[in-house]
Amino acid sequence: MAGFDDPAFYGDCWAGVYDEHFADMDPRPAVEFLAGLAGDRRVLELAIGTGRVALPLAGRGIAVEGIDASEAMVARLRAKPGGASIPVVIGDMAQVPAEGPFGLVYLVFNALFGLLSQARQAECFRNVARVLGRGGLFVIECFVPNLTRFDRGQRVQARAVTEDCAVLELSRHDVVQQCITIQTVTFDGQGTHLRPVALRYSWPSELDLMAQQAGLRLRDRYSGWDRQSFDSSSAGHVSVFQRD
Ligand SMILES: C[S@@+](CC[C@H](N)C(=O)[O-])C[C@H]1O[C@@H](n2cnc3c(N)ncnc32)[C@H](O)[C@@H]1O
Repeated sequence: MAGFDDPAFYGDCWAGVYDEHFADMDPRPAVEFLAGLAGDRRVLELAIGTGRVALPLAGRGIAVEGIDASEAMVARLRAKPGGASIPVVIGDMAQVPAEGPFGLVYLVFNALFGLLSQARQAECFRNVARVLGRGGLFVIECFVPNLTRFDRGQRVQARAVTEDCAVLELSRHDVVQQCITIQTVTFDGQGTHLRPVALRYSWPSELDLMAQQAGLRLRDRYSGWDRQSFDSSSAGHVSVFQRD
């Protein structure tokens, strides 16, 4: 069986339920932010998935292309109105298998942390810098690690409990590797379903160093898509790096 080291693993596990599971996530603030930066330049989404952000962005007339490792996720994108006309390469986002130059590359919803080592994340920054044109921008949306979520390296949550279903989220945290492994376990009339996720988180300062080593500089950092200020109480960040 494939595992976390296979770039397609997450998407292949989640594609069947992804849109339904994350139906509450509103892409409009991200689309507004990204459209403002894109102008009329070519845009690339790494880990485009089912097109949650790319489709409404393309709907604004922006030339969006994508990369994703999972055929199953991209099949869901293609089945949606407008999905078939977005060019998508099936491949590993750390390698950024695309021909630049792009004016904007973006990677949202913590997807950078799906690259499970510091080396893989740094490789991604270097390859993004390779495909960005002069003045091009790389935007990432990530959570700020919060180690207080874990008690002795673990966490258990009852995500949903109804008459006919229970959803548990079980997490283990490795503080040295900066890795979190999560199983979302659903018990319902059809049996037990496992949806695994592995994340390797990076601190904002660590991301800035990766960017710097790739020849990118931090231009702006906000705590969200509405450009709220970022500080030590922020649970997440939207960071804009620039290739000068
Ligand atoms: C959390 S989803 C995000 C999808 C979309 N960007 C969104 O915001 O809804 C993560 C996506 O990353 C893709 N993915 C994970 N590892 C990858 C890799 N190494 N290269 C390319 N895509 C990858 C998965 O297939 C999945 O589509």
